[in-house]
Amino acid sequence: MATTKDYGLGEYTYPRGWFMVAESAKVVDKPQAVHFFGQEFALYRGKSGRVVLLDAYCPHMGTHLARNTTSYVAQDGAIEDDCIRCPYHAWRFGPDGKCNEIPYSSGPIPPSAKIKTWKVQEYMGAVFVWHDPEGGEPDYVLPVVPEWTDPAWVCGSYDDLGVVNVHPQEAIDNITDAAHFGPVHGSRTKFFENEFRGHRVVQRMGGGHRTLIAEGGPMLVTEATYHGPSLLLTRMSGLYDSWIVIAHTPVDDGSIYVWHNLIVKSPTGSAVATDEDRLHARGYQDMALAAFAQDFEVWKHKRPNVQGLYVQGDGAFQKQRKWYSQFYNPRTKTAALLPQFEGIQGARGLDAAPQEMRDTGSLSRLEVA
Ligand code: FES
Ligand SMILES: [Fe+2]
Repeated sequence: MATTKDYGLGEYTYPRGWFMVAESAKVVDKPQAVHFFGQEFALYRGKSGRVVLLDAYCPHMGTHLARNTTSYVAQDGAIEDDCIRCPYHAWRFGPDGKCNEIPYSSGPIPPSAKIKTWKVQEYMGAVFVWHDPEGGEPDYVLPVVPEWTDPAWVCGSYDDLGVVNVHPQEAIDNITDAAHFGPVHGSRTKFFENEFRGHRVVQRMGGGHRTLIAEGGPMLVTEATYHGPSLLLTRMSGLYDSWIVIAHTPVDDGSIYVWHNLIVKSPTGSAVATDEDRLHARGYQDMALAAFAQDFEVWKHKRPNVQGLYVQGDGAFQKQRKWYSQFYNPRTKTAALLPQFEGIQGARGLDAAPQEMRDTGSLSRLEVA
């Protein structure tokens, strides 16, 4: 298992950015333990509906707030209003992390009786945390996908793919991997390009796809964008108009947790998606998942690619790895680093791209490599 240091990404072990930590529906008024960025957290939904994520250990005597089922605090319900009680001596902490009650003590509550809480946002049916080694405020927002709230579109539930023992760099590499589409997905790639813009990298691709489209079917056109180091949103026009949502979050240094979801435009063309639409959409999500599993299987069993042996036609891996390193360095360094890496890389076959993509995307103003 290779680490961030092995890849030479920067000063920090874990990157800065918004990261998915759970599917919203699974966060209820019962503390659950989650482990990301090499550390333990407690996650719960307060009675008001507010989601709270905090460091897992109680400052009193170090008890884990979310790994207990036998204490009567846990059995009777550790969540009160938006507060959480420790299962050991029942100290209660507010959603700001401050202890606000010690049931057996009439003395003052020490100011250090406090747990670090994390900035979270519910976004497209998931809970995201802002992780920042510098302790700063978010420097980008999660993009609005209007289709998520459009009744004509079916929003899937997250496929929970669990932990994979690869460094996130190996997953990110996929965005610049021009040569894997044929061998892995059976795609005769007609056009391909990458664009680097600040915290985003875009991949535009069109071609056949044996897993998602039958032989001789329409061209599958995708525009996949990493919004920061973790969230990959792909607009896909193939069998149905859809968005693929993939999120991965570092678990320890050299492993990631992965989720997958699909948002599909009503396959029957209804203004409000029907049960039949949901059935088709789930079938399509399973097909998309099968396509993703083709990448996943490779990641699961590969050795780390710390230093690749790249040839012409591979894609802009080195540029992408520099782009990705921005999240592992202080913002002061990022500012100096980024402008050199903006622009289009590895564009080819652009005549085959659909006109609307050439009009709205960057395809019409490209240099062909
Ligand atoms: S260890 Fe948490 S209240 Fe004592
Ligand atoms: Fe792939």
